[in-house]
Amino acid sequence: MVGRSWPLPARAVAFRLQPAATMGELTGRVALVTGAAAGIGAATARGLAAAGASVVLADRDADRAAEEASSIAAEHGPAIGRGVDVADPDAVDGLVAEVVDRFGRLDIAHNNAGVPGVTADTADYPRRVWQRVLDVDLSGVFYCMQAEITRMRTQGGGAIVNTASGAALRGVPGAAAYAAAKHGVAGLTKSAALEYAAEGIRINAVCPGLVRTGMIDFDTDGFERAHPIGRAAHPTEISAMVCWLAGDAASYVTGAVLPIDGGLTAGLARP
Ligand SMILES: NC(=O)c1ccc[n+]([C@@H]2O[C@H](COP(=O)([O-])OP(=O)(O)OC[C@H]3O[C@@H](n4cnc5c(N)ncnc54)[C@H](O)[C@@H]3O)[C@@H](O)[C@H]2O)c1
Repeated sequence: MVGRSWPLPARAVAFRLQPAATMGELTGRVALVTGAAAGIGAATARGLAAAGASVVLADRDADRAAEEASSIAAEHGPAIGRGVDVADPDAVDGLVAEVVDRFGRLDIAHNNAGVPGVTADTADYPRRVWQRVLDVDLSGVFYCMQAEITRMRTQGGGAIVNTASGAALRGVPGAAAYAAAKHGVAGLTKSAALEYAAEGIRINAVCPGLVRTGMIDFDTDGFERAHPIGRAAHPTEISAMVCWLAGDAASYVTGAVLPIDGGLTAGLARP
């Protein structure tokens, strides 16, 4: 991925993809990434592996996670794919136990698996979908953090990065379940960060704006223009921050909920 240009809308400024973390920086560390079969999670898994970490790619889509892991292993180093539904706490506990069995430790976790739900206003929002979005996007992060923190405490430290969203910082009409879950991830991140800061476990969250991944299946033209930078992000522009937060350069950063949104949190683009 490094150095490859990415096709962008004509209005976007040209840029080159940057390495997510310095080569060798994470050598000897073990990382778990959920929602790693595609999009932001796959980009993080690749970035962590490029920096030297052994990586477990976990996803509901076990086949795609395994394919992505093989491709990463061929280019970088140890990487394996595993199937998991993060909304199932027993499956999550089993996954973390397997990571430790296989690699001996867990240093880095990116809790990133998520689903968008449907577009409907609150009074009409299907309760079944509400429950699933909360189960995956909020409880899934909680279950992962419980298992990861339990392990990291026995090792004396670790770094956790949760994927929240711009929807953790402001409301989104038609997406109440998603916004409620992502606001929840922000609160969970800050609270747990305070609980474990003294034990050497750093816990942060990233809040991407619009990112060009499989999750985005609508016409983004107007929304891209609302971002001051004028385009959607490439997944590596999010994973670069995740990898930085996972590494020692971020040793004084915990409890941060960081927008990576082309300026959208600062305000709307000039009309
Ligand atoms: N794409 C965006 O614009 C955007 C913006 C802000 C936040 N996010 C967040 O980024 C994260 C990653 O999304 P993405 O954009 O890369 O989308 P994506 O659809 O490419 O990736 C999401 C991955 O999560 C997996 N997944 C879904 N439910 C799961 C479950 N229950 N258990 C395990 N894996 C599961 C999917 O199979 C998929 O591989 C999500 O949490 C999403 O809410 C995305």
